[in-house]
Formats: sequence, structure tokens, C-alpha cells
Amino acid sequence: MRSLLALLALMVTSPMARADEAQAAKDATIVETLLRIKTVDVNANAKLKEAVLRHLELHKGTPKYVDLVDRLNLQGMEEELLSIALAAPASTQGVHAGELLLKRSGADLIVAEITGDDEELAKKTILLLGYIGNPDSIAILKPLVIDQHQSRSIRTAAANALGRSRLGERYLLRLVQDTRLPADLNFTVANVLYASTDDSIRAEVAKHLVLPATAGSKPLPPVSELAKRSGDVAHGQELFKTKATCIKCHKVRGEGKEVGPDLSEIGSKLSREAMFVSILDPSAGISHNYETYSAILDSGNIVTGLKVSETDDSITIRSAESIDKVISKDELEEVIKSSVSLMPADLQKTMSEQELVDVVEFIATLKKPGA
Ligand code: HEC
Repeated sequence: MRSLLALLALMVTSPMARADEAQAAKDATIVETLLRIKTVDVNANAKLKEAVLRHLELHKGTPKYVDLVDRLNLQGMEEELLSIALAAPASTQGVHAGELLLKRSGADLIVAEITGDDEELAKKTILLLGYIGNPDSIAILKPLVIDQHQSRSIRTAAANALGRSRLGERYLLRLVQDTRLPADLNFTVANVLYASTDDSIRAEVAKHLVLPATAGSKPLPPVSELAKRSGDVAHGQELFKTKATCIKCHKVRGEGKEVGPDLSEIGSKLSREAMFVSILDPSAGISHNYETYSAILDSGNIVTGLKVSETDDSITIRSAESIDKVISKDELEEVIKSSVSLMPADLQKTMSEQELVDVVEFIATLKKPGA
């Protein structure tokens, strides 16, 4: 043991270690040796640690990096682990980095990402915690679901993330049973729990929550099921312009009104699953720039819609019927941003289950040219 350590020390300080390649080869040998003699604490020996860090540098971005940080018990790597985990939260390497970070009491770093100002980063972190799905990650996710200070999209993301593990599903079910689930998450949680592989969870949730019903008052299957169905593109296109009323608010290739986003390339942006959610639960993730505002006038009148423009003197609000109203700031009491989408939440009621699938089949074909 002692001679091995002496040998390691000799390798680190050897005057031969000048050329980069020779250095790299020595570093690799040191790492190999350390992995075999597990009793040496790399963190307690600056020279050894330097060699290990140099070696790691060569493996940046590969699964070996996280593996080595783990097996060598290398400390002080929290920031690196976090950035690896968030670069690819839905990958083996990302999850391994995240697990290691949590194990090494890096939970504070993770929580800071969630409570920071960057909502996209927060959602990515939540996704990571969902994929990790162990008691440590679940403990961070649980309070988010019921925290009314969090935005709806953060709470929705947390509920979906919990739905990736059995422990998480059980917690969501408990919230439902105790009527502690915020009502705006009913759709999200119903979808998660109706899609559980555990029969008893499915049976229990059915006593408390229903999935949205279509034309015949028949409840839909969960979104994960719907996304697997296939539909008729031509019929979907027809419905889009008629019964389903989508055209009253969405443009597709120059045709239609502009209340909601142009859907001409939506097939390149959203997965089929996300399309069903957009239609069945529009407020779950309101697209940027399409938030609903309510302008409260001095007269007591309220004008609700999208804020399409604002000058020093006036704001323009576009209603769900695509009518623009210019409101002078003189008559304006206040403007409130709403968490409810201007897109109606019950459009599926005008359609049968198959018709809904057809509409999604159609919009899924709307892709970027050349894609
Ligand atoms: C009364 C207007 C209205 C109607 C009718 C309507 N939508 Fe929307 N839609 C919106 C608005 C506003 C948004 C943006 C806010 C949001 O994301 O909820 C939106 C968002 C969407 C999105 C997400 C777009 C993105 O870029 O993420 C999709 C997909 C969508 N609608 C599809 C449909 C389909 C399909 C129909 C018909 C079944 C439909 N909409 C009917 C107003 C409408």
C-alpha cells in the first residue's frame, strides 16, 4: 500500500512528465491505479487531484466523465455535474450526473435553478428530477405541485415529472384523495394517473377525476393513449376549418384569423402528445406572446384578449373573435395578465374522439418546408 502511494507520487512529480502525451499517459495510469486501490482519498492529495482533473478534461462530454467523478469520489464537482445533467436531462449520462449531485447534497443548487428567473431552465431542471425519480428528487418535486407561488406551467411540469415514478404517482393520488390538488392541475394529473401501469392507481383516480369528454359525453383516454392513434388527414383539415372552429383563431398557410399563433409549421414544433395537450388544456402552457390580458376601464367595463400593441397613449386588445379594440390610457384603470388561455378549454366537445384524432393528424403534417 505504502509503496503504491510512493509510486503514484513519483509519477506525478517525475521530470519526464513534460510532453503532453507522456503526461496524459501518466495521468491515465494514475487514474487506473486509483480506481484499483480504492482506499486512497484523491481529494486529500493536491498533486493526485491535479492529475485526475487533467485526465477528466480529456473526457469532457463523455459518459466516462461522470463515471470517474463518481468512482473516484472526486469532490467539488457540483457545478460541472449540474451543467452535464441539464445539458441532456433525458439521457443516461444526464440522469447519472443528476443522481450523483443529489447524493452529494447538491440539492440546493438544483432548487436554485428551479426558483430562479429563467422558467425554461426551471422546467428543464424539473424534467431532470422526474427522470431521476428517486426519493431525493421526488422530495424536491412534491412541494412544487401545490405551491401557489409557482406559475401554472412550473406546477404542471412538476406534476408530469412526478408521474414518471410510482412514488410520485402515489403522492399525486394522495393529493387528489385529500382534495389538496389545485384545480387547474386536474387535467394534467388525471392524464398522468389514468395512464399509470398500476391497476389500483387507475381505479382509485377514476373515483375522483374525469378526463375531458367528447361530443357523445364519452370521456377521452389519456393523452399518452391518444397520441398513439392514427387519423385521417383530409378529414382533419376539413374539421379544422368547420366544426372544430380552429380557423377562427389560427392561420394556416395564409388562411384563417390571427388570434392564436400561426400553425403553418406547428408539426415541426410540437409532438403529437403536446398537440393534444394544447387542445384539451390550453392554459397548461400558454405560448409566449399569447398571454391573455384583461383591461379594466374606469367605466367598470373589462376588455379581455391579447395585447397586440401598446403605445404611450393607448393599448390594443384583440378579442377571441379577432376584433381589435384600442383603449386610451386615460380611460384605463389597470391591465391584469391572466393565467387562462384565450383558447377555449372545451373544443373537444364539438368533436368525437376520432375527429379530435383527425384534427391532430392534420396539424401534425404542417411542417417547415424541406423538413
Ligand atoms: C378562440 C380562439 C381559439 C380557437 C377557437 C382555437 N385556438 Fe388554438 N390557440 C389560441 C390561442 C390564443 C393560443 C395561444 C395561447 C395558448 O398557448 O394557449 C392557441 C394555441 C394553440 C396551440 C399551441 C401553439 C404553439 O405554438 O404552441 C395549438 C397547437 C392550437 N392552439 C391548436 C388549435 C386547434 C387544433 C384548434 C381547433 C380545434 C384551436 N387551436 C382553436 C386560440 C384559439
